[in-house]
Amino acid sequence: MKILGIDIGGSGIKGAPVDTEKGVLLSDRYRIPTPEAAKPADVADVFAQIAKRFDWKGPIGAGFPAVIQQGVARTAANVDDSWIGTDAAALFSKAADCPVRVLNDADVAGIAEMRFGAGRHRDGVVFIVTIGTGLGTALFSDGVLVPNTELGHIEMDCQDAEWQSADSARKRENLTWREWALRFDRYLNHIHALFWPDLFILGGGASKKMHKFEDILSVPTEIVAAQLRNEAGIIGAAIAAEALVPKI
Ligand code: BGC
Repeated sequence: MKILGIDIGGSGIKGAPVDTEKGVLLSDRYRIPTPEAAKPADVADVFAQIAKRFDWKGPIGAGFPAVIQQGVARTAANVDDSWIGTDAAALFSKAADCPVRVLNDADVAGIAEMRFGAGRHRDGVVFIVTIGTGLGTALFSDGVLVPNTELGHIEMDCQDAEWQSADSARKRENLTWREWALRFDRYLNHIHALFWPDLFILGGGASKKMHKFEDILSVPTEIVAAQLRNEAGIIGAAIAAEALVPKI
């Protein structure tokens, strides 16, 4: 199927048409910087610009950095609070005049990795962590997603794990890769103790630098880098929107 995938992030909103059978982009990504306060109306405006750029008339899938239930945002850790309670799917659908399905950003990146990337043909418990402004998580059991896990927000040392161990913490505190990785390793060990994953897949910006910190990770679990890199969000969002296409 040919579906437009849009990945809404803290710094950029990126989109491209996707062939969901092959897991490839059908043209170059189009990226627009995320508007300053990232309020719903401004993000919807950018969303519409991306759809227009591809002259899009058809289903669109989107990944958004919040808990999403039936299209409605329920949290706002790194976005404007006015998103809480906003029907993002309805808002984007109106803006782009197309049917839209919205899921959590880490969930869609995970969906793409499981179908076409590092999680392909992997049964058991697979835990995906996206390391960026936030710590996004996606949990799969035998290929089935448990949505909205939000396990980047577990408590570590009386703090939100994301505050300590996201890539934004490394930048904010000017940590060396080693200093940051020691924290991130504690995070993975926490998750290991809770879920005993068979595989960890590390995605997001920091995963491109895995060679700088993989030696420090002590968790007794296989750990691999995500394979679809910065296309995972777009591809996974498009896959999620396959559900909008009527079956004949
Ligand atoms: C949000 C998640 C999101 C993650 C990555 C977290 O702060 O709570 O919903 O998946 O950041 O963007």
